Amino acid sequence: MFLMDTGEKEFILPQAPAMEKTGRQPKAELLSQLYNRIKGCQKCPLGATRTNLVFGAGNPNASVMFIGEAPGYEEDKTGIPFVGRAGKLLDKILAAMKLSREDVYIANILKCRPPNNRDPLQLEVAKCLPYLEQQIEIISPDIICCLGRISALYLLRLKLPMKLMRGNIYHWKGSIPVIVTYHPAAILRNPSFKRPLWEDMQRIMKILKEGV
Ligand code: URA
Repeated sequence: MFLMDTGEKEFILPQAPAMEKTGRQPKAELLSQLYNRIKGCQKCPLGATRTNLVFGAGNPNASVMFIGEAPGYEEDKTGIPFVGRAGKLLDKILAAMKLSREDVYIANILKCRPPNNRDPLQLEVAKCLPYLEQQIEIISPDIICCLGRISALYLLRLKLPMKLMRGNIYHWKGSIPVIVTYHPAAILRNPSFKRPLWEDMQRIMKILKEGV
């Protein structure tokens, strides 16, 4: 602790956060700087209709990042990703992987809710995706999991049926491995996707343990 004598009162200043060995700022700090830069974003019309910008949540040092589509009603209300019905299912999936939200990082292609949960528009993605890309660069996870076709479409520029994307390992910007699987909301609509999703999660766990 540093003590600063102001003459009137003694203030205890928090110690400067430890730098990582590389001399880079801690990831949590970089993420919070990014959040502060974008929290008032008005680059697309969704800025005017949102209640909260849903930045992303979880462990800045996570080795796995889950990327969904866009905030829904509950997420817009709370500012936290995946807290509605699909989010509750994601929590169960994480628990089955022996993980929790504190172990992973969760974000979306869009940070603001599209009206009536419609699909993101090109313009919205063009303005918003660079924020997610900066988050991925800061977190630098060992693996990314795209939840659903919209996530794969915009993160990987892949316009393929889920059946063809599943089971492959893609690479984000030629480096970070990416697995594509069903969105939890799709599992709620069609429980027969549960088994393939679980196979994908097992593949993620194997990669985390053994590498690609
Ligand atoms: N669906 C998503 O894709 N993201 C959320 O945050 C919530 C639901």
